Amino acid sequence: MTTNDPSRRRFLRLAGLGAGAAVVGPRMGADRAQRVVDARAVARAVARTGAQDDILEIALSAVIDPVQLRPGAPTTLWRYRAAVTAGDPARVQALDGPFPGPIVRLHQGMRFQATFTNRLREDTTVHWHGLNVPWLMDGHPMSLVAPGATYTYVFEVRNPPGMYWFHPHPHGRTGTQVYRGLAGLLIVDEPPDDPRLTALPADLVELPLVVQDRTLDDVNALVYPQSVMGFLGDDVWVNGRERFTAAVERRPYRLRLLNGSNHRILKLGWRDGAPVRVIGTDGGLLDAPVDKPFVMMAPAERVEILADFRDAAPGEIRALDSLAFRDDSMAMGALWPQGGKAEVATFVVGGGPPDGAGRVFLPIAFNGRYAEAADFAPAPALAAPVCRIEPLRRDADPIPATRTIVLRLERGQFTLNGRTFEHDAVADDEIVKLGAEEVWAFVNDGAGMGPGMGMMAGAHAMHVHLVRFHVVERTTDGRHAEAYATVAAGFVDEGWKDTVLVMPGETVKVRMTFGDFTGLYLYHCHMLEHEDQGMMRNFRVDA
Ligand code: C2O
Ligand code: CU
Ligand code: CU
Repeated sequence: MTTNDPSRRRFLRLAGLGAGAAVVGPRMGADRAQRVVDARAVARAVARTGAQDDILEIALSAVIDPVQLRPGAPTTLWRYRAAVTAGDPARVQALDGPFPGPIVRLHQGMRFQATFTNRLREDTTVHWHGLNVPWLMDGHPMSLVAPGATYTYVFEVRNPPGMYWFHPHPHGRTGTQVYRGLAGLLIVDEPPDDPRLTALPADLVELPLVVQDRTLDDVNALVYPQSVMGFLGDDVWVNGRERFTAAVERRPYRLRLLNGSNHRILKLGWRDGAPVRVIGTDGGLLDAPVDKPFVMMAPAERVEILADFRDAAPGEIRALDSLAFRDDSMAMGALWPQGGKAEVATFVVGGGPPDGAGRVFLPIAFNGRYAEAADFAPAPALAAPVCRIEPLRRDADPIPATRTIVLRLERGQFTLNGRTFEHDAVADDEIVKLGAEEVWAFVNDGAGMGPGMGMMAGAHAMHVHLVRFHVVERTTDGRHAEAYATVAAGFVDEGWKDTVLVMPGETVKVRMTFGDFTGLYLYHCHMLEHEDQGMMRNFRVDA
């Protein structure tokens, strides 16, 4: 690794980080324009460092940290800290904001080791969401790391390029721990000659954006009432900033978005109504971009969009909103209900934010960035009430499912085929053969009796560990047709995925291959309150 290499110097400059910045802490007020990363420069730098770059070892810890998020008292966050102990120090980067973070950059084929120390006051694990790793490295709730203890995660990076992430996975506490700030990004970079990358505009700038809803009380403490029905925050935070505003150049941007919310579904669209040009999903870049009127993002889903500011006038403002949609979950009086409208991110073209860096610290208690619950705009493409039954694969017969998993509320609990999580238990119908290709049908039964609240219906975000899948079919039973019509045009089913939104009354079939490892893995709803109260099961891969 020589810093004389011009491409490497460029990489460090664009990343805004030198070797001394490897320990990630709060970086409030830093010049964010410095900290966007040119994906191509990263890829070139990675290619140059060659053989010395086939390992990355980091010391990772989960810590409790007071951070100034609003004027007044600091907010106690739980965060990951990382430092490179072997390999290229530039592979650990800060996110552009106080939480979550950090970003760990990897490439396919490298060996990654994270020596993790738990500095919390409760058990945790680290799960590498979307990665294909041996089960003891997967952060399974059985592999708890006690306070003060250390666990070494080590694996080969087998996944293709894409944006993955990591977060805690202890049973019953995942929602709390993620909500307090424990999450980071794992980016597996494309090689510079990846045709999907070279097909994108040459001067592309990368900007990772983690969208999360949070509620702070009047002494700036995070509010997290435990409810099995799901937590919805009062406001949007992007990279830990409220009213996220980025100064952008008149260039094309690769916005790499993670919905890091516990329960909130996003319906992302440009405020000016321009189509959203989607270039990537959970599993990396698409073979070709697709335009959508808006994009649905369930918790844990990633979407990459191409935002082209080249034709913008200097000073022009472009904004990403979460558009209104109808959700039949009848969620309990949240200030910003599921499906409520909100501003997500503002991009100011050709200069810094209009009133300086201080604007992210504006006193915002409850800033009204949501619209009325009644403000439901039907999707433009689907204005008439429809029950869309439109399989992606137009085979004569529906695609037969290897397994059917019914998502249902029973006795006040969300269940998978009537079961909830049981630590190491695996049912006979949860055993998969190594190497098998399977189609799983997630059937959202759509309605059931809520705990003391009458009929409930809701969406779920189904995630399968170990594999990546293709969505091969969506059908809906029509009971929630009006709600469905407000979201259906925004599913991005074109690429590889590991998490999929299943709306009330909908059946989603996914096809995947259980390729690389035997062992105990999880499938669950990634709405973290559903997961924590047991909407999670093991499956076992046998040789
Ligand atoms: Cu991101 Cu089992 O989860
Ligand atoms: Cu996962
Ligand atoms: Cu769920």
